[in-house]
Amino acid sequence: MPSSNAWAQTWEQRFGENEEEWFFGREPSDMGRAAFNLWNQLFPSRPARVLDLGCGEGRDSVFFAAKGFQVTAVDLTASGIRKTRRLAEMNGVTLHAVHQMDIRDFLLSPDYDILFSNNALQSLNRQCIPYLRKLQRITPPGGLNAIRVFTREADALRSRSDVYCFDHNELKYHYRAWRLLYYGEDILWRPHVNGYLSFATIIAQKRGGRKRTCAEDHAARDSQSE
Ligand SMILES: C[S@@+](CC[C@H](N)C(=O)[O-])C[C@H]1O[C@@H](n2cnc3c(N)ncnc32)[C@H](O)[C@@H]1O
Repeated sequence: MPSSNAWAQTWEQRFGENEEEWFFGREPSDMGRAAFNLWNQLFPSRPARVLDLGCGEGRDSVFFAAKGFQVTAVDLTASGIRKTRRLAEMNGVTLHAVHQMDIRDFLLSPDYDILFSNNALQSLNRQCIPYLRKLQRITPPGGLNAIRVFTREADALRSRSDVYCFDHNELKYHYRAWRLLYYGEDILWRPHVNGYLSFATIIAQKRGGRKRTCAEDHAARDSQSE
């Protein structure tokens, strides 16, 4: 199994190859946009505190920050973190915190409304599911998890022993006690591996939170405009 260092080297190289180009682009991912829209529907006019785990070059972190959310971004790679900071600057936004470190060493606390991880957790391999459970535990009631991971559907992934590949519906199963806002599985062509990769994506809300009433929403809006 590649160590964190091996993973870091692969992404370090990809992100570091060209300082002017963002490997996954500068626009947010579809999951980033969907998580933002869902949060806004659930809690209009309440900016979320977002933890972006494996933020890469920052496309989603910067998007959330540009929407007024408080973002903490974590990634192993120096090149990814450098470009995350640069993308924030280019967009004139401030990220609350940016850490270059292994997400397993980042102290998880119940201070985040959206636990966001786009295509990173599978690299934790055997630690993937225990880590996912930790994320679930620290999510406050009403908070969201937005997670995209590899599935075993694509031939290229089925036999890989260095990453954790989810079975069909497995990710959804882990969130069976949560309120499901979105779940989808895709198999997509990925030019950088010259092949198909397969993904499961979930956006789910931890039960137990209380949705703000209309009156509370109006009061919050009034107090912001004062
Ligand atoms: C496929 S890229 C996705 C990047 C970003 N989430 C995006 O969608 O643009 C995977 C990212 O996860 C990061 N990553 C993988 N394992 C990690 C770990 N244990 N700790 C921190 N970052 C990790 C890599 O450095 C890389 O930036």
